[in-house]
This record gives sequence, C-alpha cells and structure tokens, in this order.
Amino acid sequence: MDTIIKKINSKKPDPDIIKQAGDILKAGGLVAFPTETVYGLGADALQEDASARIYKAKGRPSDNPLIVHIAAYEALEEIAAEIPAEAKKLADAFWPGPLTMIFKKTDKVPYATTGGLDTVAVRMPKDPVALALIRAGGGYIAAPSANTSGRPSPTRAEHVAEDLNGKIDMLIDGGTVGIGLESTIVDMSTGSPMILRPGYITQEKLSPLIGRVELDPAIVGRGETDKAPKAPGMKYRHYAPKADLTVVKGDAAAIVRTIKRLSAEKTAAGFLVGIIATEESKDLYREGMVKSIGTRQREETIAANLYAILREFDEAGVDYIYSEAFSEKGIGQAIMNRLLKAAGRKVIKANGH
Ligand code: TXA
Ligand code: MG
Repeated sequence: MDTIIKKINSKKPDPDIIKQAGDILKAGGLVAFPTETVYGLGADALQEDASARIYKAKGRPSDNPLIVHIAAYEALEEIAAEIPAEAKKLADAFWPGPLTMIFKKTDKVPYATTGGLDTVAVRMPKDPVALALIRAGGGYIAAPSANTSGRPSPTRAEHVAEDLNGKIDMLIDGGTVGIGLESTIVDMSTGSPMILRPGYITQEKLSPLIGRVELDPAIVGRGETDKAPKAPGMKYRHYAPKADLTVVKGDAAAIVRTIKRLSAEKTAAGFLVGIIATEESKDLYREGMVKSIGTRQREETIAANLYAILREFDEAGVDYIYSEAFSEKGIGQAIMNRLLKAAGRKVIKANGH
C-alpha cells in the first residue's frame, strides 16, 4: 500500500486535507495524525474491521484496548454507560487536553476496540488537527500511539513514517508534538478514581478537583508488586530502544561519576555507548555519545525529548545507553514511568567509586 503523506499547518488545518483523511477513516482506513501528546494511528472506533486493522499495522496484541478520541462532550454520552460527577468535573477542567478517562461502555462500542473489555477509554485531544480530523471522520476515532508495537512512541511525523510507511493509508504531518508523553489515564469506572498511566495531568492537578486519586500500585516506582497493571498496555515492555538501557539513580555528582565509570569500561571493551544527560551535566562526560535531553529547571523539556532521543540512539546503533534518573514529582512521575519501562526496569544506585 502507498501511504499518502501530507504536511499540514497545525494551527490552521487545510480543510481539503482534513476532508480527504476523514473520508479514508469513514471508509474503514487508517490515518496517522498529530495530537498534543504523541502521534496517533486513527481508525473509526465504531467499525470492528477498522479497529482490527490498527492491531495488524502496529503488530499490537489484541487484548490491548484502544482509546476512543472524541471532539465534543455529547459524544461521551453515546459511548459511556455511566458518567460519574467527578468525571464531568475533570472533563470541564482538562478537556480538550492530555487526559483519558475510563468508563463502563455502551453497546455502541465494539469489543474489537476495547480489547474485549466492558469498559472504554475516552479522550478529547486539544490539537486542532486532531479535533478537525475526529469531526471529519465521524466523531469517534480509536487511536493508539502511531508506532510499531514495542518501539518508542512517535513525537514527529518522521518517526511514524519509519515504523508505518506502506502499512497505513495516510500520514498527516503536523510537525513536532508539544508534550511528548502519552496522556494521563484515570479509571472512573469503579467509584474510586485511579491513575493507570501517569502523564502531563498529574496527581497534584487532579486531587484539588476530585479529592485523593490513587496510583495503580503496579506502575509505581520499580513496579514491585505481584498484581498486573490495570491498563493492559502497561504490562508490555513498551517504548524500548534496541540498546541495553540502564537508569542511574542517586545524587547528581554520584550519577555522573557512575555513568563515567560504566561508559569508560564499555568503551574500553569496544562497545558504542550513549549517555542521556541534561543541559546541567552534558559537559561533564568525556566518553560515549552524549545527548542532552533537556533541562532539570523545566522538566517539560525532558518529557518532550525522551522518545526522540531513544530513537536517535537506535539510529546511531549504540550497544549500551546510560540515563541519568529524574525527579519523580509532577511530570517527573510520567518521565520516570516511561524511562523505567524503556529500561525493562533496569536501575542502579550510583556510588562514589
Ligand atoms: O496520548 C495518548 O493517549 C495517545 C494519543 C494518540 O492520544 N494514545 C495512546 O494510546 O497512548 P495507546 O494505545 O498507545 O495507549 C492506550 C493505553 C494502553 O495502555 C491501554 O491498555 C490503555 O490505554 N487502555 C485503553 N482502554 C482501556 C480500558 N478500557 N481499561 C484499561 N486500560 C485501557
Ligand atoms: Mg502506545
């Protein structure tokens, strides 16, 4: 299949391109498009065959449910069987935006879209291209991140093309996304709201509106619990680079010393080493391919660059990657969640020697 690739002005989307893409979606086809979090791979969420095509193109396990993207609050009432008052409050505050909520589903949503579950994940994205496309495509667009299953999520159209060129009908290139990590997922279907995937909308932003919000214990810290995560997708080793990635924790100076020692050892043994450093630390390293992920003064910059850096190290063909650890507060909770998953949870504590 030839993939149609169209560049679009993300502030003022060209209506002809949106119409062409919307028609493809209505006919059951696949269109990748930008959102404010990561690029999504869209299909009509209400057509079983269309959803099934997403799994095939991504190589995604069929028990991993999709998020249904909507462009109007009224659409939620069609696909969610119950909308708790807290969910209404969160929608008022954060939609359109990087928040996904889980509800009991209505019969309108096929099981092919929900991975066989009786619940449905719903999000109203903020990106103008995404909103226009959802409207043009019929109002209910299933969209996982537009990467091959297991690869880092795409934050630029080039990343989507690397993984899916020739496997999808159309790719809308809206440039680089703003946030760079997938939406926060909150389960609203059980009576006690729980974060299943941390993201840009943090626990600190949710609690003032709806009180205490638990974090799924299976995804906290190193995930040392015997319970499976409640979002089926969180159990897979997602976001993985090809190299062996280790995260180094500890105080700033000890982290740098430890990464320097490890990269010197691996370099001496003939391996190619990549180092994920920050603006603050990048000049301290002597060996390896050093990349600054952003500044600790503005952690949003770190979130925005994480997936692109993992892909760059893949391109460069490095054997080992050492990453500095980041604070687990605020957006840092989402950054560390994705970084630790990419590392297959391989973490070491820095020491001074
Ligand atoms: O930011 C985002 O959410 C992006 C953009 C494209 O909107 N989409 C995204 O989709 O990250 P995906 O498929 O890569 O991740 C969806 C996650 C998976 O971990 C899946 O298991 C979980 O949402 N999920 C979906 N429906 C669920 C449900 N009914 N119950 C529990 N988890 C669910
Ligand atoms: Mg994904």
